Amino acid sequence: MSDSFVTAKITTSEEESSLPILEGTMGPKAVDIQTLYGRHGLLAFDPGFRSTASCKSAITYVDGDKGVLLYRGYPIEELAEKSNFIEVAYLLMFGQLPDQKQIQEFTGNVHHFSVLHEQVLSFYQGFRRDAHPMAIIVGTVGALSAFYHDHMDINDPVQRTMAATRLVAKIPTIAAAAYTYSVGHPHRYPDNALDYASNFMQMVFGMPNKEFVPDPVLCRAMDRILILHADHEQNASTSTVRLAASSGANPFACIASGIASLWGPAHGGANEAVLMMLEEIGDVKNIPKAVNRAKDKSNDYRLMGFGHRVYKNFDPRARVIQKSAREVLEHMGINDPLLEIAVRLEEIALKDEYFIERKLYPNVDFYSGILLRAMGFPNNMFTVIFAVARTVGWVSHWLELQHEGHGIDRPRQLYVGEARRPYPHK
Ligand code: ACO
Repeated sequence: MSDSFVTAKITTSEEESSLPILEGTMGPKAVDIQTLYGRHGLLAFDPGFRSTASCKSAITYVDGDKGVLLYRGYPIEELAEKSNFIEVAYLLMFGQLPDQKQIQEFTGNVHHFSVLHEQVLSFYQGFRRDAHPMAIIVGTVGALSAFYHDHMDINDPVQRTMAATRLVAKIPTIAAAAYTYSVGHPHRYPDNALDYASNFMQMVFGMPNKEFVPDPVLCRAMDRILILHADHEQNASTSTVRLAASSGANPFACIASGIASLWGPAHGGANEAVLMMLEEIGDVKNIPKAVNRAKDKSNDYRLMGFGHRVYKNFDPRARVIQKSAREVLEHMGINDPLLEIAVRLEEIALKDEYFIERKLYPNVDFYSGILLRAMGFPNNMFTVIFAVARTVGWVSHWLELQHEGHGIDRPRQLYVGEARRPYPHK
């Protein structure tokens, strides 16, 4: 990466000057506007950050026009095929694929930290039984800051790595406990004999009165889901984590803020919303009505699982997960009317001018909802699983930003309220 001496010209009524243009390894160049306010008294206006690079990052690269997603330079399709989630976690957090010794040590640390403090389990009792599991995990992950705060120095790289590894290790246990609590099943402890994905499956679906035998097809599908959702550069939840972390806040609290941001239906909540939409459509014969409703500008109904802020070509994760969904459905012999609706909806929308013109393709969430349902997860666990995977991305960005050294993030605004005015007499 080089910071180029090429400049962009800025002309105001008072003066003309140049701003440097920065060049990354790949992707669009960026005009460095850091001096814009200081030199010209001007702010850049970009609500929604459509044209703003908020930081330099070496973790994940997305080319939305070409449908490319790279983790530390490796294509997502190859990682999903050749790696497993724990290797991908190491890659994202530390920058390189691990060798034998490194993966053994990292796996050992994840195993070591995977059990929750017994007092943490008592938090669950405070939630209503029908609480959404996202509400439970946002609260529980935030509460971990009460356990690991006083003795933690985020300026010490060893302690930072320990906090990041703790989060990766504990999040499946926290997520599974949210599920078992909501259905009244006993809490399951982690089993270090199993890999990360299989262990998560046993903590969710295992029962003490029956031996849990991992189904290799389902566990492999879970591992792929985790890999595909592990990171996606500066999305809303990752940016939330970075913003929270820029103040030097406790890492567990920062990750809780990321979980809160992920919950929304425009982000991680989309796969749950896909299933709700399919249930509402209810029958293949109602699909044209739903498609017309999505095209109608007079209401804000959208086809959930279609479109993406960055991908204006096929989402590369969607191709991998579509394959996984087919494998699992075949393996389970599932004949689900909602899945038939999903397949027909995809066919119809992909041939429709409205969706073609706007480059609205099915995104990863369209298929992940279908796949997770086939694997036996209730709708309200879909976003939770996304959060388990994305914790790796969030901690990787948290580790990275500790070296940035630009202090607290503080966006500005274009004020459009009342100008100063006198207080009315009483
Ligand atoms: N259904 C119908 N129309 C849509 C959809 C959709 N799912 N998505 C976008 N459009 C239309 C918009 O109405 C707009 O039309 P117009 O140009 O006539 O006004 C045009 O396509 C562009 O839409 P934008 O909102 O500008 O697209 P943006 O890139 O900002 O939005 C988003 C991306 C939020 C994902 C959007 O496509 C959406 O709401 N999709 C459904 C929710 C969803 O699946 N979210 C998951 C995202 S993936 C993830 O988080 C892992």
